[in-house]
Amino acid sequence: MLPRAVLSTGSLVLRAPEEADVEAMTATGRDPVTARFLPLLPSPYTEQDARDHVARAARRWEEGGAEFTVAENGAYAGAVRVSAPDRWGAVEIGYLVAPWARGKGVATAAVRAVTQWLFDQGVHRVELQAGAENVASLRVALKAGFREEGRRRDARETRDGRLTDHVLFGRLALDSGDEAPPYLPPFEGGELGDGVVRLVPMGLGDAGHFQRMMAQPSVRAYAVGPAATLEEIERRCRNTGYWWVTGQRMELAIRDAESGAFAGHVQLMQVVPVLGQAMVGYSLLEEYRGRGFMTRAVRLLVDWAFAHTPLHRITAGTDVANEASHAVLRRAGFARECLHHELFPKGDGTRADDIQWVRLRSGQA
Ligand SMILES: CC(C)(COP(=O)(O)OP(=O)(O)OC[C@H]1O[C@@H](n2cnc3c(N)ncnc32)[C@H](O)[C@@H]1OP(=O)(O)O)[C@@H](O)C(=O)NCCC(=O)NCCS
Repeated sequence: MLPRAVLSTGSLVLRAPEEADVEAMTATGRDPVTARFLPLLPSPYTEQDARDHVARAARRWEEGGAEFTVAENGAYAGAVRVSAPDRWGAVEIGYLVAPWARGKGVATAAVRAVTQWLFDQGVHRVELQAGAENVASLRVALKAGFREEGRRRDARETRDGRLTDHVLFGRLALDSGDEAPPYLPPFEGGELGDGVVRLVPMGLGDAGHFQRMMAQPSVRAYAVGPAATLEEIERRCRNTGYWWVTGQRMELAIRDAESGAFAGHVQLMQVVPVLGQAMVGYSLLEEYRGRGFMTRAVRLLVDWAFAHTPLHRITAGTDVANEASHAVLRRAGFARECLHHELFPKGDGTRADDIQWVRLRSGQA
């Protein structure tokens, strides 16, 4: 049984929920972001729901868990919930922050304080889960010193009945709890551009264009593996934020800066922090060829990566026959490094050799 406690960290006090919180809790429950990412909350959320919550919170303590209101300078700013320990002593936490208190570290500080308190009570493992599309919550988990332990595919249902992936995080009492700085930080202002092309994170609206591009003969000729279905591409688009904040890869749509239309795709993938290495991959719609779009896109991405990440080597692999792609890489500052024999499986059962290219942080190769 966890002892009833009041915790404090910086300007935050974490205490038991009380009747005086009801109005602010109701406003938080009615917020669309809360409703989206906490689909089990009643909707529309009423004052009675908030009152019921306060009553349930008291029971949660009796059942071995904990429920805190997070107050900032005395005012309601959010909540942290702790499940009763499972039979192996692990507990799960959940949290929310009032819309007016978001974006200034309230969730991170509250989660850190509760986690440390749980360790002080002898808990050895704290878990939390966040929707793969809930990028703010994924950031909170990482900033609060939790480690990703896997993506649970189709684990939960959204409010409109769609199955969605959830990411499992854990923090052990033995872990340092230090925040790993994001290996792939966000773009300042949300995108990169040079006046001709814009690079923006792939979104759901890009899925149909991406599928059409991948079916074009000159793209298909150099694609590896079977063509993805629209459903698979949509899933990929929904996970763009998750892959980015966890430092695994960046999936970007290339837009024509003038019209805003989807022109192609460029990605940074196979990120290996211990080597400081990653790989670029790309495809352009046939109707946008011959205007230097891809050279610009690759250059923008690689210049950004060397300026904003610890990456040292950025590689690319091209089919030996793909002359257009070789030209892009040469113009974007890459040098030919080596040949991989029979790397790419082709549709006709043969395999093509692959040229590996590299651009180094130092500019030399
Ligand atoms: C998730 C939530 C608790 C975060 O609260 P918060 O107090 O704003 O969190 P913090 O300020 O500690 O950290 C938020 C981080 O997410 C980042 N972030 C927010 N929205 C983002 C987005 N769309 N894309 C990328 N990063 C985003 C912020 O920039 C910040 O990271 P940074 O410090 O590296 O800049 C809040 O958004 C919320 O209550 N959401 C609804 C309920 C919910 O989702 N609960 C969690 C369920 S698992």
